[in-house]
Amino acid sequence: MPKIIVLPHEDLCPEGAVLDAETGETVLDVALKNGIGIEHACEKSCACTTCHVIVREGFDSLDESDELEDDMLDKAWGLEPESRLGCQAKVTDEDLVIEIPKYTLNHAAEEH
Ligand code: FES
Repeated sequence: MPKIIVLPHEDLCPEGAVLDAETGETVLDVALKNGIGIEHACEKSCACTTCHVIVREGFDSLDESDELEDDMLDKAWGLEPESRLGCQAKVTDEDLVIEIPKYTLNHAAEEH
């Protein structure tokens, strides 16, 4: 059973976490199921950036993002080469290390 290791995030998961995942589940669903409240403003339909996560390890094991996801990610706060939308990134049989960005676009906007 693959695992998702979540790096500490100040609000959502201060201690970090190690989560059991099933192949085919999305990163977002695994996090939500375990009480890590990553935002998902568009209800997982690839139409926002609030579920943005950075895949620090295991990125290459994921299916490639499609064009729609890439377009959305371009608008995400703190975009990195290993950024994915959590609701679109499906776990395979490899472990992942995930970082939740400090801000979502909504939060970043509030700060300015
Ligand atoms: S929840 Fe909106 S794109 Fe993932």
